[in-house]
Amino acid sequence: MGTKVDYDSKIPNNVDLSSDRRLQRALEGWQPRFMDWWAEMGPALETQGVYLRTAVSVGRDGWAHFDHVIPHEYRWGIFLTEHDADRRIAFGQHAGEPVWQQVPGEYRADLQRLIVIQGDTEPASVEQQKLLGLTAPSLYDLRNLFQVNVEEGRHLWAMVYLLHAYFGKEGREEAEALLYRNSGSPDQPRILGAFNEETADWLAFYMFTYFTDRDGKYQLGTLKESAFDPLSRTCEFMLKEEAHHMFVGTTGVDRVVQRSAELIREHDTTDIAGFGGIPLEIIQRYINFHYSVSLDLFGGETSTNAANYYTAGLKGRWQEERRKDDHQLTEDSMLLDVPQPDGTWSQEEVQSLLALNLDLREEYISDCQNGLKRWNKILADHDIDFRFALPHPGFNRDVGINAGYHITPEGTIVDEGTWEANRKKWLPSSEDLAFVRSLMQPVYERGKIASWVAPPRHGINGKPFDYEYVYLP
Ligand SMILES: [Fe+2]
Ligand SMILES: [Fe+2]
Repeated sequence: MGTKVDYDSKIPNNVDLSSDRRLQRALEGWQPRFMDWWAEMGPALETQGVYLRTAVSVGRDGWAHFDHVIPHEYRWGIFLTEHDADRRIAFGQHAGEPVWQQVPGEYRADLQRLIVIQGDTEPASVEQQKLLGLTAPSLYDLRNLFQVNVEEGRHLWAMVYLLHAYFGKEGREEAEALLYRNSGSPDQPRILGAFNEETADWLAFYMFTYFTDRDGKYQLGTLKESAFDPLSRTCEFMLKEEAHHMFVGTTGVDRVVQRSAELIREHDTTDIAGFGGIPLEIIQRYINFHYSVSLDLFGGETSTNAANYYTAGLKGRWQEERRKDDHQLTEDSMLLDVPQPDGTWSQEEVQSLLALNLDLREEYISDCQNGLKRWNKILADHDIDFRFALPHPGFNRDVGINAGYHITPEGTIVDEGTWEANRKKWLPSSEDLAFVRSLMQPVYERGKIASWVAPPRHGINGKPFDYEYVYLP
């Protein structure tokens, strides 16, 4: 089984596309519409080349090639990880059976829905980030933005391939609709709420790639376990690319915190707005916002849909195969904190099978804590008392058992008036957003960086920070 990518055909791929003329023609028909979408909805900034990585193989080492590429000439392609002929279903009622190479008729509608929901998020984030290239803090950051954008475009290709290859006419119609819906559109919005929020500034971009791309990592992790093998192999390769997106988020917030900490020490005040830094309270409010809208992406805490997907083998748990239980979950239970109308919390025991969304969310939350530890260590290293914290999972929620309640970041249930009176303390205010936006002046001189963020410790692919990552007209 070769893992080399075929770059000679119109659509680079390692799925032997040329052997299926019908499918190839269908995808070649979709390609120009994708290019139109990219031209209209993709990055607003024109460049003459960006130092991008392109996948050239799906193996463990040396899978990517780096070179300057004009973004609209990027070779978007279809890459699945290697086929494992012995792979078996790890969970649910079909556990132990060989995985499926075709879609079983009874699961067709559910699998298509899962693929469409995942596929919808990929172009959405490109749309949300459309204008960011006009205000990047350095050429290094600008390059990372383009890298994330072209790869989200490729993730759209990954889902469109599955729709075209396995779901017939309906799949092709869904593939069209993925280009037709747009982030924030009043008539045809993207499916999930967080993907209709604007990514208005670079602090929001770092937060999005930290918190919202990380939700993507966990969703892809559950689909990687799928009994539908082509979906599993597609997601496994997407996860490889996704790691860089989260690196951009983690180190992006690191560098903002680092710069703010330096300015606090230098001027001996936490009020660093006048010195071109972002005050720590504003960073905390951005964390509160991006974290809480990302938690909504996990859906309701208990879900019969998720239970059915699991039992059917369509969607597993995070690292399913490492879990030491029966992989059926009908006997196990989890504890769920439930807000009560009298302002107290109660704990309810729920069957693990029904609490799969909660299980995934808990994995996600403990992963998110790692970032908080890093950022707090930067503050500690600068002898600053302030500490960042993740808000309570019930804070600012529109989905699940906490929706409709007013819950503080500390987890106290309060009335609407109290919550609204404190909103500006907890979530970015219009003043915060206007201030952060005022800092967003593009810095496109080689080796230079904006006032509000520290330079990265390392460049990309061994290049120095002052490398010409982007050629501008
Ligand atoms: Fe993605
Ligand atoms: Fe991503």
